[in-house]
Amino acid sequence: MKKLTAIISGLGALALIPAMTWAAPGDPGAGLAATKHDFTTLAPGPPPVGLCTFCHTPHNANIQSLLWNHTLSANNFTWAAGSVTIGGTSYSSFNGATYKGPSAKCLSCHDGSVAIGDVGWWNGGVPGAPLSNIKITGANQKATVTGDMTGNHPVAMPFPFGGVVNTYNTVTNGAASVGSGWQADPTATGIRLYVDDGSGNISAGTNAGTTGIECTSCHDPHNGSDVDDVFFLRGNLGTNTANYICVKCHLK
Ligand code: HEC
Ligand code: HEC
Ligand code: HEC
Ligand code: HEC
Repeated sequence: MKKLTAIISGLGALALIPAMTWAAPGDPGAGLAATKHDFTTLAPGPPPVGLCTFCHTPHNANIQSLLWNHTLSANNFTWAAGSVTIGGTSYSSFNGATYKGPSAKCLSCHDGSVAIGDVGWWNGGVPGAPLSNIKITGANQKATVTGDMTGNHPVAMPFPFGGVVNTYNTVTNGAASVGSGWQADPTATGIRLYVDDGSGNISAGTNAGTTGIECTSCHDPHNGSDVDDVFFLRGNLGTNTANYICVKCHLK
């Protein structure tokens, strides 16, 4: 009987296998290949292009930060002048070419001002058409070509980490932004936060008083294992559970 039970439960386990979801290339969380950030088929060589080339290079990078290979936007990114959040926090501004937070890297393509294939170093050459002259337009363009961010969730902004005001990218949370409306530490659920050392250096992590958010707090451009849904999201887009992207930071 014991043996029979073992066989049955063994079969049960086998039966579960087809029900498990096997991530196919391009699925949420399955890595870069076959996503919208895989440019290898759009820009076939020669010289051959790798998965990383359009964003990073081992040599001759445009900026040391992240060994960034894509030409940075020259825009000053701003929200409508003088705007503050309901919490009393001033919306940030940052320069696309000098701000070291990852949002400036995203916007080097996603403001539509620089061609997708405008990279500094590509195996000794430069990428050819068509990516050398195509710019992002439509729903994927998140700022105007002159850097107006109005309409977007704040980025390059302090997060009220630990339930107190934080200072990040020279902005300090307003007094009304702290309190019970926040997850004290959303990194516990796959969100990524950032620390500003006060000299313009940004690193991933958290630190009492100097923590903030970037585009990459909600998105992982590599479609890595923290991605749960479409659009490289670090949470779900269409659920009403604790894994819903918005409630990972906002306690609502
Ligand atoms: C579409 C642009 C893009 C592509 C393609 C890309 N990266 Fe990144 N990468 C970024 C951005 C933006 C960051 C900053 C991410 C963050 O702060 O979460 C980053 C961060 C990193 C880091 C720093 C550690 C980390 O995870 O934050 C490493 C290492 C890295 N990338 C390696 C790679 C490699 C290797 C490839 C190719 C297999 C690759 N990336 C492809 C945009 C890209
Ligand atoms: C080298 C240029 C480049 C960089 C840098 C880049 N992207 Fe993209 N991204 C693209 C292109 C091109 C598309 C596809 C646009 C289209 O299909 O119209 C895209 C698509 C996306 C999509 C939609 C994915 C989908 O499945 O529909 C998201 C979300 C996204 N990017 C976020 C980011 C974020 C966040 C960053 C920074 C961490 C970033 N991107 C950096 C070029 C870039
Ligand atoms: C607070 C979380 C959050 C932040 C921060 C954030 N995004 Fe998103 N993003 C989302 C969500 C949720 C969606 C899907 C819903 C939608 O389309 O608005 C999305 C969608 C996108 C898309 C897909 C196109 C589309 O249909 O909207 C792109 C591209 C994108 N984001 C780029 C960016 C860039 C670039 C930044 C930084 C400037 C950024 N995001 C910051 C949450 C965020
Ligand atoms: C990574 C953490 C994080 C995530 C995820 C997040 N937010 Fe936020 N949100 C913030 C921060 C930080 C602020 C600015 C707080 C302040 O006022 O200082 C903010 C502000 C806001 C505001 C107030 C804006 C204003 O001008 O008053 C709204 C509304 C908002 N978020 C909605 C959303 C929605 C909707 C989602 C899901 C798509 C979302 N947030 C996801 C961190 C997050």
